[in-house]
Amino acid sequence: MHTPSSPSVYKAHDLVGEDIDAYLIQHQHKSLLRFITCGSVDDGKSTLIGRLLYDSKMIFEDQLAALEADSKRIGTQGQNIDFALLVDGLAAEREQGITIDVAYRFFATERRKFIVADTPGHEQYTRNMVTGASTADLAVILIDARKGVLTQTRRHSYLAHLIGIENLVLAVNKMDLVGYDQAKYEEILVAYQDFAHNIGIKHFVPIPISGLAGDNITTASVNTPWYSGPTLMQHLETVEIDISAAQLRPFRMPVQWVNRPNLDFRGFCGLISDGQIRPGDAIRVLPSGRTSTVARIVTLDGDLDVAVAGQSITLTLTDEVDCSRGDVLSIAGDPPEVADQFEATLVWMADEELLPGRPYWLKLATQLVSATIHSPKYQINVNTMEHLAAKTLGLNAIGIASLTTDKPVVFQPYEQSHDLGGFILIDKISNATVAAGMLHFALRRSSNVHWQALDIDRDAHARLKHQQPRLLWFTGLSGSGKSSIANLVQRKLYALGKHSFLLDGDNIRHGLNKDLGFTDADRVENIRRIGEVAKLMTDAGLIVLTAFISPFRAERRMVRGLMQAGEFIEIYVETPLEVAEQRDVKGLYKKARAGVLKNFTGIDSPYEPPEAPEIRVNTVATSAEQAAEEIVTYVLRHSLLAPYVDGDNWP
Ligand code: ADX
Repeated sequence: MHTPSSPSVYKAHDLVGEDIDAYLIQHQHKSLLRFITCGSVDDGKSTLIGRLLYDSKMIFEDQLAALEADSKRIGTQGQNIDFALLVDGLAAEREQGITIDVAYRFFATERRKFIVADTPGHEQYTRNMVTGASTADLAVILIDARKGVLTQTRRHSYLAHLIGIENLVLAVNKMDLVGYDQAKYEEILVAYQDFAHNIGIKHFVPIPISGLAGDNITTASVNTPWYSGPTLMQHLETVEIDISAAQLRPFRMPVQWVNRPNLDFRGFCGLISDGQIRPGDAIRVLPSGRTSTVARIVTLDGDLDVAVAGQSITLTLTDEVDCSRGDVLSIAGDPPEVADQFEATLVWMADEELLPGRPYWLKLATQLVSATIHSPKYQINVNTMEHLAAKTLGLNAIGIASLTTDKPVVFQPYEQSHDLGGFILIDKISNATVAAGMLHFALRRSSNVHWQALDIDRDAHARLKHQQPRLLWFTGLSGSGKSSIANLVQRKLYALGKHSFLLDGDNIRHGLNKDLGFTDADRVENIRRIGEVAKLMTDAGLIVLTAFISPFRAERRMVRGLMQAGEFIEIYVETPLEVAEQRDVKGLYKKARAGVLKNFTGIDSPYEPPEAPEIRVNTVATSAEQAAEEIVTYVLRHSLLAPYVDGDNWP
């Protein structure tokens, strides 16, 4: 812990100056409360946090530098920092910190240490709140007494409850601005009580306060004689947090890494999320299910006889079992579940909306898998708790959806374990976190639908046709020439005796995909279906050609991932927009320019060119015939497409 270096500015505890060791020991044994403040814009959050820091007379590390700089700037160096200045400092910091999701501020009183998650930047962004709340024991929901319960109050309360924060404080702030009116306070209480009950919040502690005037923050206010409950600080100092609950649950430790400095030592390192463990305990490695016994619990301070939730340890086992990063070690007799299909609550945190069908990275504890979200079952209206039909989720939306992962995930329902049930979704291209989620249960399909092994497989089908399955994926703007070139390629393959099939955007949209339009979400689904159909057709031994704009890298990459190495041949038909627009074979560009046709690729809908296609076709310099010839040559060169020999009788 950092000790304030400038006692003249910071009236820290007297012990600091006299006996630093005693001071540190004293703090070490205090319990720690992590909390978050949330509410709507202008509810006085900065002021409240400033007030708590100021009144606790303990200001640490991260505040120090900023405040010292500030006091130098305005010439108050050497004087006691006053409250207004402190609040200004915090406000300035949060304005500069738009890119920081959450700032953690530390302070301490005689009884307890505190970490408060402050959310600078765009406060309306749910992301900040979710990040701060994920580790909080308590949430202070701030309400401006003049405004009462607002949408943001409801959203944040709902999120705090969803995330599983059990201790809620309803701080009715700015009581000074409503003349400390008891009726006003009670009116707000009743409104909040109704809402809280509705969403399943069983208990909350209401406190009338003024962050600015200091009422009921550390000392009981004379302005609210009608209030007899605790002050905010009293409550924060005494509220009970159940730290033993995690230790009573069955043992789980997500493996962070495997330490193998030499052949004689193999240790599995991680943070125990639940339960406790002793040498000699039987454990199970998931998802594989293999079992072993704990040999040693190794830490930097020597071996332990027992380790509990919250500790970082290295375990060695008595057997050489397979276990690597992402696996979960569990007590053998009571392991968590393993599944690849789930129902989950999603809190969408990105500007770009959820694209059902697109693969995202899903990070759960130390596991990283690819996951696709299906259309949400519904979205939740945080004001009314109504379930609204939804095809996607936009910024700040909260919804329920099912999702499928490409590999089995070791999990527990979020209600049982936040560590093994909470996850985030990450965009695979931008690497941005787009959602936070909570797994509720595995969908039964994942354990009841098995892959049926068939005797006549894709190789057998392909051998029968004397060819190798390929997927020639044409991509490019509308009118770039994809269909024309694909058509010529198909004729050439046919002449060589090769069995191919052309899937064409305009045609498929008349049948299989006639329910889809041209929004981003529909295009993602369009390509997902085509990818699956093309995969089935290559399983049948065919050479498949597809001619779709397929504007997004993510989906092209996904289809590539469905195929075996070397089978996916991406052909970028690189016709500049001006040229395609000039040709305007179907007259669609004219309509798009006139605003009659919305979401038109290249005009008001994006096209992401391939970065490393197998083949690039420049239709300005090359004729369709030449391009087709080049493509066939490429395909022949990269596969054993021996010309069909009549009479060849493969058994
Ligand atoms: S994709 O983007 O989902 O891959 P796809 O290739 O199936 O598109 O369909 C594109 C064809 O639909 C175009 O060639 C064009 O004829 C027609 N079309 C109609 N509206 C649009 C639009 N808004 N954007 C692009 N193409 C459109």
